[in-house]
This record gives sequence, C-alpha cells and structure tokens, in this order.
Amino acid sequence: MKVAVLSASPKQQLSLTLQIVRALQKMCKDDEFDISFIKNVDDCSEFEAKAKEADLVLILSSLYHFNTHGQLMRYLKGLHLPKNKPFTYVSSSGGNMDVPAHNYLRSYARQNGLKWIRSLSLLDEDVLAEPGREEVYRWFQYVKDVVRNTELNAQSLKDTRIAVLDCGDEPEETEAKVAEIAKKYEDLGAKVTVYNLREKKIKGCIACFGCYTNNKCVIKDDFEALTDELYGNSDMIITVSGINYNQFSTNYKYFLDRHVKFGRFGQDLELIKAYVYCGEMDPMDLVELEQHTLVVDSLGYDVYVGMYPGTDEGISQLIQESAYVCINDLYPQRNTYGYGLSMQFANLAYRLQKMTPKDYEYFKAKGYYQMPQVLNQVRPISGIEDGRMSCQMRLMAFEDMLSALDGPPNMTKRGERGRFTKMIGADLSKVDEDKPKKGFSFFKKN
Ligand SMILES: Cc1cc2nc3c(=O)[nH]c(=O)nc-3n(C[C@H](O)[C@H](O)[C@H](O)COP(=O)(O)O)c2cc1C
Repeated sequence: MKVAVLSASPKQQLSLTLQIVRALQKMCKDDEFDISFIKNVDDCSEFEAKAKEADLVLILSSLYHFNTHGQLMRYLKGLHLPKNKPFTYVSSSGGNMDVPAHNYLRSYARQNGLKWIRSLSLLDEDVLAEPGREEVYRWFQYVKDVVRNTELNAQSLKDTRIAVLDCGDEPEETEAKVAEIAKKYEDLGAKVTVYNLREKKIKGCIACFGCYTNNKCVIKDDFEALTDELYGNSDMIITVSGINYNQFSTNYKYFLDRHVKFGRFGQDLELIKAYVYCGEMDPMDLVELEQHTLVVDSLGYDVYVGMYPGTDEGISQLIQESAYVCINDLYPQRNTYGYGLSMQFANLAYRLQKMTPKDYEYFKAKGYYQMPQVLNQVRPISGIEDGRMSCQMRLMAFEDMLSALDGPPNMTKRGERGRFTKMIGADLSKVDEDKPKKGFSFFKKN
C-alpha cells in the first residue's frame, strides 16, 4: 500500500513520533511510506500532490499542551485533500491527555469529507519494546483492512465470542436492533450471546466503597454473576442503549455505577467494546457522551471501537469496523486515549515510586514501565544547538532498535500477553501487604 506520511513535528528528522513510521517501514516491507516534513506551514502543495497519488494519508505529530502543535494546526488550515481519501493519525507523547489531539484530527477529516480511520496514540518510547511494535503493527494491519475494504464472509469472525448487551429501559427502544445486530454477527461466524439488563436484578450502588477493601460488592443481586460471565466469556461487547436526555438508558447507568468495583483494580481482559444508541442525540452531547464512555466505561484495558447510531448505515459501519478490530486483535491503547485515567495514576505512581511502592508495583506488573527510560538524567540545556544535541541523544536508543529490526514482530494472543492477565477479582496476594512502607500508598491498609 502507498502511504503519504506527513511528519509534522517541528523537530523534523529528530522527531520521536517519526520513529514509529521508521519501525513500520522495517516491519511492513511490502508497503511504501513516502515521508514528508512541514517546511513551510503556508505551502501544502508538495504534500497535496503526494497525497493525491497515495492510498492512505498518515499524519504524525506529538502533543503540545494536550493537543497537537500549532504548526500542524496552521498547516491543516491550508491542506486540501481529495474527498473520501483514507486519512489517519498517530501521536506520540508522554501520554497525558491525548484525546483532544485525536479529536482535532478526526474533526479535520470529517469536516473535509475524508475517510477517517481510527487513530493510534503511543507513548514516546513505546516502539523501543516488542509489545509496542506489535501494537503498531496490528493497528496498521487494521488500517489496511479499512482502506482496502477487505471483504467479510461467514468465517471472518469464527471463534469470536460476541456479547450484545441490551440496556434499553423499554423493549421497544432496543430489542429489535439487538436482534438485528446479533444476527449480523452470527452471519460472520461469531458466537453471539444476548444479555438483557431488563431481565436482570441490578440494584443501585450505595457508595459504601466495600469493593475498594476486598473487590467484592456488598449488594447481593445479579451483578456479580452477570459481569463474571459477560467479561469472562466475551471477546467483544456491543452495548445497545436507548437515549435518556442525551445519555444512555437508566438501566445502563445502574449497571455502570456498580462498576466502581472494577475502577480500582481494573478489569484486565482486553475486551473490545462498541456502543449503539437508539434514538435522537444532540450532536454536541454525542461528543461528550463518547468521551465519557471512552474514559469511564473502557476502564483502562479495553479496545474502544466506536459509538454508532442504530440506523441501517450506523449498524453496517459498526459491523465492518468492529470485525476488522476483532480480526486484527487490536491492543488497548496505553494512554489517556485508550486507558482513561489509569495512565495518570501510573505516571503519578512512577514519579512517586518510593512513596507509593505498591501502586508502582501494580502498574509495573501491567507493563506501564516496560519501555526503556531514555531520559535518566536532566541537565541544563543552553542554546539551540545544545537543544538539538539533546534531541539527537534521545534518538540513540531508537537507532539501535531500528538497526536490529527486520520483519514483523512476534505476534501474541489476547489473554496470553504478559502484561494483560485476567483480573476479575484482583489477586491481592501479589501485593506485598506485610512490609509496611513509609509514606502514602493507595493500597495501604488503615
Ligand atoms: C510545548 C510542549 C508541550 C507538551 N505538552 C504535552 C502534553 O500535554 N502531554 C504530553 O503527554 N506530552 C507533552 N509534551 C511532550 C511531547 O509530546 C513529546 O516531547 C513528544 O514526544 C515529542 O514528539 P516529537 O519528537 O515527535 O516532536 C509537550 C512538549 C512540548 C515541547
């Protein structure tokens, strides 16, 4: 596939984000990556010509203050691409609050009639380690499926376990759509189970935080059995809901509120999740609902596919995009974009690792600090040339990695990946409670 890459970082060749595509070049030798840089923010003509001939446009940029940098924003104002051109984006950063940058690029694509393909958000050093390279590789295979519109058949989702969760408050809100969605996945060979919240007894959370002490909810009803089955026996969950004042149905909210139990210890199953809303949504509120769902319901370790209207077009888009996600077995993204708030906890725990040893160990066990720490000392930088050298030094580890990289990464299976193990019912025995440590810890017993 021919990819026109715009490496937008003001650091040009010294960009860390650029190293992601350099790794892709080594891993996907059949694909052609033509890399351009922004030389003049007011002149897009050279890149426009390349993009016209390419199968895919890929924009690379880092985060500056939670969004992409001003240079790319200015450049995009003048960039005109052919309608329906497949268009996607990769960011790299410290991983803090990357959602606005991805939404910005998605808005640019949508408002300019381009074919938006879900973006990828990485941490600066991710591609230095094998799991990071696998994440990029899988994502790129997915992108290719979307660009080529790879045909689906009755075997495409064979062995995939799909749960369709009916959250409508009334049957007429969602029941027919749930049946239609279930049938469409069955036609692709998936094993589908429908769970109906109207038939379950799920009481409201009473905020006792008992679950924070032992990971068990004090309320005895259908919640624990349902979540054990739903999360333990599914690869993908499609949540189908009615609309209640621009939010999901009240049944969904009862169900979600009880998830406070998972909020502390995670629900580490790498589930793929997609959402369908049946009813009229105010467009402004839809964006808010999507953000909220991404951060709150993804609970850190899931793959978010998207939120679709329950129209014919919405459902066919859901089926196709989610099928490509399942087939390529995408990784959950380890940053604010994919992980919601747990990334912030992890960063905090890393910085305070001596004061919060158990939190540090907890996130370390999940692979948050897997990549080599490139910057292990800080020194004062004086002058542009000194600054440039500092950027160059940071790239040395990448050059080492790239010189040794040849061909695709080792592919692991979901559930067998070292850092994502089953976590329903957190195993507190792994957390060393016996040795009291000084200072503050979220895990500390009172
Ligand atoms: C002005 C500025 C603001 C930044 N803001 C953020 C931020 O909000 N979140 C984050 O995770 N990283 C932030 N960073 C870190 C950069 O995203 C990071 O250095 C990036 O990897 C550089 O990528 P590049 O080498 O491709 O330009 C910021 C860096 C600069 C210079």
